[in-house]
Amino acid sequence: MSTSRNYRTPIRHHHWPEDQAMAAHRVKTLLKSHDATLVAHYYTDESIQRLAEETGGCVSDSLDMARFGHNHKARTLVVAGVRFMGETAKILNPEKRVLIPDLEATCSLDEGCPVDQFTKFCNAHPDRTVVVYANTSAAVKARADWVVTSSIAVKVIQHLKDRGEKILWAPDKHLGRYIQDITGADMLLWNSACIIHESFKATALAALKKQKPEAAVLVHPESPAEVIALADVVGSTTRLIQAARDLPNTSFIVATDNGIFYKMKQVAPDKTFFEAPTAGHGATCESCAHCPWMAMNSLDKIAHVLETGDNEIHIDEGIRVQALQATQRMLDFADRARQQLIAHTA
Ligand code: 13P
Repeated sequence: MSTSRNYRTPIRHHHWPEDQAMAAHRVKTLLKSHDATLVAHYYTDESIQRLAEETGGCVSDSLDMARFGHNHKARTLVVAGVRFMGETAKILNPEKRVLIPDLEATCSLDEGCPVDQFTKFCNAHPDRTVVVYANTSAAVKARADWVVTSSIAVKVIQHLKDRGEKILWAPDKHLGRYIQDITGADMLLWNSACIIHESFKATALAALKKQKPEAAVLVHPESPAEVIALADVVGSTTRLIQAARDLPNTSFIVATDNGIFYKMKQVAPDKTFFEAPTAGHGATCESCAHCPWMAMNSLDKIAHVLETGDNEIHIDEGIRVQALQATQRMLDFADRARQQLIAHTA
């Protein structure tokens, strides 16, 4: 293990790069004066993750983003990620003001699951428990029995399978198939995918693995089955960061958004990270693994929304209350799972 540092521990950097120092200072001041905290995903720009760390905000996976915002006392949450993450924060915290840096920052999974078509699908299968990935609109969550994120999905589906329930799963077909393989649950899958994870190529990854036999392969389960089959570790962004820190390997090939390298390098500074290929031999770009919507977040936009109150998330109250049931069910389940783990390891 190259470091014993906890990956959640804020790191003190000495200097901000000159071109970011003013914006960082401006955001820090605005967060304080507006009683706001910054909740960022691991896929956002390094400067945003760093600022969240330095201001006592949070940098995490989708589940912990939801949890953190819910437990924090700040009146305003600035959610730097994509729109569904801001909506999840609002679903859980109607009394708080939730701002996102860019309202256009969407997600291909969310876009691939329009609520009218999804409702028809659900209505055609009334005997199934409806489980949706967090990467969906509030309206889709409102039609669901459960919301899950990648870090809790397998446990929830296993739990439902053990209760004899049949599942309707949406929208990520790759994650759905992965969970189905692990749990053996009866799952009917919606047909959608993340444009980033879907672009990882198994043949090119196998070739890279041959070139770097010492590297462990870390894969997010939104990736295609053939890519998952080559993995040493499959899991949520948090799980992959833990693996980068804890595995004895000194190098890693990583199949997820490359925003995650900021945290991986922080927790394992002596290790080497390679992007899994998204293109085959001869392509001009070997990897383009960065979500174009996550990339829409910036320090300047964070400052702008704090100054103006623009880009506030609003959700119809009827939809919010419905969506809350399925979302809260996930948080309660995750809390129970955590308590059991603590009791088990105590
Ligand atoms: P995590 O919950 O694993 O961070 O995944 C979020 C996501 O949107 C992956 O594309």
